[in-house]
Amino acid sequence: MDKYVIHGGKTLSGSVSVSGAKNSCLALMPSTLLTEGKNIIFNVPEVNDTFTMIKLLNELGAKTKFENYKLELDTSHIVSQTAPYEHVKKMRASVYVLGPLLAKYGFAKVSMPGGCAWGPRPINLHLEAMEKLGAEIKLEEGYIIAKANRLHGAKINFDVSSVGATGNALMASVLAKGTTLITNAAIEPEIVHLERYLQKMGAKINGIGSSHLEIEGVDELKPAGITNIPDRIEAGTLLIAAAITHGKIKLLYKESEHIESVLTKLDDSGAKLNIEEDFIEIDTTDSDINSIDVTTSIYPGFPTDMQAQWTAYMTLSNGTSTITDNIYLDRFKHVPELVRLGANIEVRNNSAIVKGVKKLIGAKVMSTDLRASASLVLAGLAAEGTTEILRIYHLDRGYQKIEQKLQKLGADIERVTTKEY
Ligand code: EPU
Repeated sequence: MDKYVIHGGKTLSGSVSVSGAKNSCLALMPSTLLTEGKNIIFNVPEVNDTFTMIKLLNELGAKTKFENYKLELDTSHIVSQTAPYEHVKKMRASVYVLGPLLAKYGFAKVSMPGGCAWGPRPINLHLEAMEKLGAEIKLEEGYIIAKANRLHGAKINFDVSSVGATGNALMASVLAKGTTLITNAAIEPEIVHLERYLQKMGAKINGIGSSHLEIEGVDELKPAGITNIPDRIEAGTLLIAAAITHGKIKLLYKESEHIESVLTKLDDSGAKLNIEEDFIEIDTTDSDINSIDVTTSIYPGFPTDMQAQWTAYMTLSNGTSTITDNIYLDRFKHVPELVRLGANIEVRNNSAIVKGVKKLIGAKVMSTDLRASASLVLAGLAAEGTTEILRIYHLDRGYQKIEQKLQKLGADIERVTTKEY
C-alpha cells in the first residue's frame, strides 16, 4: 500500500500537461462491444479505473493492447456477457457494459453496483431505459439479468439528468430497431464524446451535444478510432493546486470551455487567469483567496467532482463560504480529514460551511474516495509541516501519477510504500 508524504508550503510554478479523461474513457471503452473488430482509443489515461475496465472487457473476450496511452480493443470474439461482482464492486462504471451487451448480444448479466463510499448511487434510470427499449429485466442473486431479442426504439425521458444512464441508453439505442428519443440527456463533455465515437462507428444520432437526442437504430456498427478528450477534473484540480499555494503555473489544456464554471469561480476567488487556445495560465502569487460559494450542478454548472477540491481551497480563504452539493447530497467524507489539518468546516445537510483559517497544519489523514483524496493533497500542499495521506489507492483510480506532475511544479510530495492502512 502507498501513501503520500507532503512537506507543504512550496509555491507551485512551471508548466504541466493534463492526461486523458478517465470518465470519458470509461464510456468509450465499453462502447466498442457494439462492434466486431479492432477499435483504437488514443490518449487513454494510465489509471486504475481504465485498467479495471480493460480487465472486464478482457473477461468478456475482448483482446486489448495498451501502450503509450494508445488502447487497441479487438472485439471480434466476445465470449461472455457477464460483468462479475469482482469487477463491479471495484468500479461502478462497469455497469456501462449493460447497454452495449444487451444491444449487440441480446443478453447481459451485470452485478448490481451497491452503495458507494459516500452514499447511495442508484441505477434505476439505467434499468428503466433498458426496459423502455424492450429489455426484460430481472434482479437475481445480486445480478441484473437483461434479455431482449432485439431492442426497439422508444421515448426515454430522464427525470434526473444522469451521465451513466444517458451513456447506457445511447449505447443500447444505436442498435435498436427504429427511432429512440432521449430527452433530458446528460450533456457532460464525456457523454458528448461518446456520441461522437458512436457516430464514427456508424450510429445515426441527431442532436449531438444537446439534451435532446434522436437516434435512428442501425443494424450494425463498424470498429473505429478516436482520441480521448483531456480530463477536465484533473485540469481543475491542478489549477487549484496552483491557487492554494499562491503559485503561478501554465496548464497545457485546450478545452477551457469544459471548465468554464471552475474558471469563473477561480477568477472570483482572486486568481489572475490568462486563457488561451492551447493553455491556461493562473497567477495567484499576490492575491488573497476570496471566499466564494459554489453549488454543484449538471454540466455546464460547477462539477460535483470538483466540490471536495474547492472545499479544500476555501479552507484558506479570507471569509466564510458555503459549498453545496446538489448532485451527491452526502459527498463530504473529506471534511473530517480536512478538519484534522486545522480547517474550520461544518456540514449542514448537503452543504459545507467553510470558515477560512490563517493556516493549515500537516497531519496524518486518510483518503476515502477519489476526489476526497485530491482535496487532501491540495490541503497538504498548502499546510505547514508534513502531511501524510494514507490509502491513496483511491487517488490512483483516477489521477495519473499526480505526484509526478506536482513534483514537476515544485511540490515536495513523495509516494512511499507503507504497511499502514
Ligand atoms: N441517479 C439516479 N438514478 C440513476 C442514476 C443516477 O437517481 O439511475 C442520480 C444520482 O444519484 C445523482 C445524479 O443522478 O444524484 C447524477 O448521477 P450520474 O448518473 O450522472 O452519475 P454517474 O454516471 O454514476 C458520473 C461520473 C462521476 C460523477 C457523476 C456526476 C463516470 C464514470 N462517473 O457518474 O464521477 O461524479 O457522473 O457528474 O463518469 C468521479 O470521477 O469521481 C465520479 C464519481
